[in-house]
Amino acid sequence: MLRFSATFLFAATCLLVSTGVSALRVTTCGPHIHRLSCETGVINVQSAIYGRTNADTCSGGKAEGEVANTECSLQDAPDTLKSRCNGKKVCEVDTTVFSADPCSDTFKYVETNYTCVPATHLIACEHSLAHLECDDNQVILVHGADFGRHDKTTCSYGRPDARLQNVRCSNPTSKVADTCNGKNKCTMRASQSVFGDSCEGTCKYLELAYTCQNK
Ligand SMILES: *[C@@H]1O[C@H](CO)[C@@H](O)[C@H](O)[C@H]1NC(C)=O
Repeated sequence: MLRFSATFLFAATCLLVSTGVSALRVTTCGPHIHRLSCETGVINVQSAIYGRTNADTCSGGKAEGEVANTECSLQDAPDTLKSRCNGKKVCEVDTTVFSADPCSDTFKYVETNYTCVPATHLIACEHSLAHLECDDNQVILVHGADFGRHDKTTCSYGRPDARLQNVRCSNPTSKVADTCNGKNKCTMRASQSVFGDSCEGTCKYLELAYTCQNK
């Protein structure tokens, strides 16, 4: 019995390792923190809902009227989550990131299906250069980039506390993809002159992820 379990476990582990991608799902009821994270690799959002598409999800303790509308979903919610979270190892949002409330009388949830994909994950502190580089016959494919601050510790050495407090400084950018996709090497400067300043007074950093594709 013990031997059977061990063998099974081993086989299951191999399967996970060989595919390298596992599907994950997070459901958050109401306007609370929605957290996606990857232990290995980076986040790649597959699909997402902000609203309600069935009566069961997040229905505990709710009145019938709050869960009756099951045709409510914000159309650009998947794009919002992709631009905010793709390419990161950890991504926390709440419903304030969405462009609108798709059905104000309904008790809503946020649900995201995502995978963790293997990629090179880079962080360049403000005023540093991020060097993206592939082998000779390969080209860069950017999976996401953000110039901002999401915690108090990254790129904090010797910085005044006051400039590390705003951890909701998010500025997803397509500039890295626009500049680097299809190239073999690419350098991006993590600076306000390139990405603009979405949160004045905060020390920022450029977080990005990319893979190398065969030409
Ligand atoms: C996530 O995947 C599950 C299982 O395939 C599916 O039932 C669910 O509707 C998906 N959720 C979203 C937000 O796409």
